[in-house]
Order: sequence, then C-alpha cells, then structure tokens
Amino acid sequence: IRIALVYGGRSSEHPISVVSAGSVLSAMDPDRYDIVTIGITREGRWIATHVDPASLRIAGRQLPSVSAAADDQAPQSLRAGRPDVFQAGSALAALDGVDVVFPLLHGAFGEDGTIQGMLEMAGIRYVGSGVLASAAGMDKAFTKTVLTAAGLDVGRYRVLHRSQPRPGAADLADLGLPLFVKPARAGSSVGISKVRSYDELPDALELAFSHDSKVLIEAAVIGRELECGVLQDADGRVSASLPAEIRLHADFDWYSFEAKYLDDASDFDIPAQLSDADLARVRAAAVTAFTALECRGLARVDFFLTEDGTLTVNEINTMPGFTPISMYPKMWAETGVGYAELIDRLIATALS
Ligand code: DAL
Ligand code: MG
Repeated sequence: IRIALVYGGRSSEHPISVVSAGSVLSAMDPDRYDIVTIGITREGRWIATHVDPASLRIAGRQLPSVSAAADDQAPQSLRAGRPDVFQAGSALAALDGVDVVFPLLHGAFGEDGTIQGMLEMAGIRYVGSGVLASAAGMDKAFTKTVLTAAGLDVGRYRVLHRSQPRPGAADLADLGLPLFVKPARAGSSVGISKVRSYDELPDALELAFSHDSKVLIEAAVIGRELECGVLQDADGRVSASLPAEIRLHADFDWYSFEAKYLDDASDFDIPAQLSDADLARVRAAAVTAFTALECRGLARVDFFLTEDGTLTVNEINTMPGFTPISMYPKMWAETGVGYAELIDRLIATALS
C-alpha cells in the first residue's frame, strides 16, 4: 500500500505536525507500507520527499517556542530529506499513485476540511474525518453548537466577530472571571489568553483576532482536565480509549502551548483516577461527540470534570497530535492498542 504522509502545513501548529509526522513515520512498518512523505511549507508549497524514516526521527527533541518555530523550524525539518527533495508540480501531482493520504496536519489548511475537500475532489482516500466534521471540529463555536444539540455540556461562552463592537465587563458579567479568550479556529492553545481582570480583555481579544476573525470568550471551567481518544475501525465500530487526566504542575496556571510541549509542566494519569462510573461517562461522552460531529477514523475529545460532577467538553481534535509526548497514542497504548497497530487500523478504516 502506498501511503503519503502529508505534514507541516500553513497553520500555526506547523512545528507540532512536523514532530507528529516524524513520530508516525518511525512507527510505520516499512515492509507493509510504501511511504512517501510530503512536506508543506509555511507558505503552502508542497515538497515531495523520499526520506529515510530515520532522518525524520526526531523523537525526544524539544520543540522551539512558537515564534522561533514559525519560520526556521519548517524549512529545516523539510531539509532533512535532501538531496531527494523536489518541487511537486502541483499539490495533486505529488500524490500521483498514492493509495491513502495520512493528512497529519494540525489546524488551518489541514485539520479544517480544506485538504479533505481537495482529496475528495481528486478521489483519493485519506485517514480521518471528512470535510464537514473536520471543518466543524476545527471551529470551536460550531463544535459547541453541534455538541449542545447532542446533549453535551460545553460551558458558557460568547462568540465575537472581528467586525462586532468589543464587549466590556457589563456585557460579560454572567461569565464571571477568569475568562479564556480563544481564536475560534486554532489549536495547541496558540493565541489563547487567560483573562483574570477586565483590563486584560482588550489585549487578549487583539491577540486572538490576530489568529482568526472569530473569537470565543469562555467562562473558565474549574475542574479536572481529562482527555479521551476515539478510534473508528474499518467495520464502522467506534471505541473510546481509557481517559487520561492532565495534572499541571503548580507553577503552571493553565494548559498553554508551553505547558503542552515545552516544559516539564504536567504529569498525566492513564487511566485517569476516576470512579468506574465516571470513566464510563467520559468514554461515552467522547463517542457521543465523535458521532454527533460525524467524525471518521480518529479524534481526541478534551473535557473538564467539575467538583459538582458536570462533565464539560472543552473541544475536539479531529487530527490529534502524534508527537512522542502526545496523549492520543499514549492513551491507546494504555488501552492495549500499540502505536503501529493504531496506524494500521487508521489506514484500514481509510481504505474501507
Ligand atoms: N492540536 C494538537 C495537535 C492536539 O490536539 O494534539
Ligand atoms: Mg485543539
């Protein structure tokens, strides 16, 4: 089977995708798959590479900060494949003869339905959700609308478009403090601020609007931070992994980009130390979210569990991180599905 692993991409999560791809590539059985790697630069150029998986194997390497990563990291990583790099005449030319694309892209132009639409148009099969689920799952506002309709709690929030007047304290009183201000369509906590007083709101909004024309203002949910992996098999069956709990170290206030990737900022329990009933509730809610959004293949659903027992969905990731420290493959490993098997099953679903 000829697989194209597409990675990098135009979004702010480019460097995460590069590390995810290195990690997936090193776990794929080279006897089973004929693997083509296609890097997309930050500018959107597609570069087909025929790399030795070892040259992309960057497990354990620490990621640079977002700003440092933005320009330098991508070309460097793509250079790993030279001298075999060539410019694809067009995006689709790079996929000539490929049976399945693994669009290991996080964020805009990858996780949001755009590449999925291109692949649908070209009749090429791919791992993961289709156009609608990818687009709805990328957009935190639409995700909430769909999940609310499915009976899940998504917390209290407002949606604000760039053209709308900026709200003040009086407009947001019912949300309380602190608030989280987020670009509607971003990932890995890029562009998100925690707002502890209303003076901080204007800067938080401007930061979020620098990433997207639509922003969410959310009431902070004080609770335990839980994640759950969802996997769909070739026969359509949807299963949920053991849930994990992220336990941030005391000097980290929230699960920011830095806390996610850069520092030794958190511990995690897999399974989360919850009652059997709560574990079952998280797994059922993850499957409900996956099904409500009509996802396919895989997703990671992130939750808060508050002291009063409310289970709130924070968000869904239709192409969760696959870095060596990412939770999705770790949760499946603890559930009994190893990395290589996970990838085999995802590819089998894409081919079904
Ligand atoms: N958005 C990042 C890659 C994740 O969900 O893991
Ligand atoms: Mg995300």
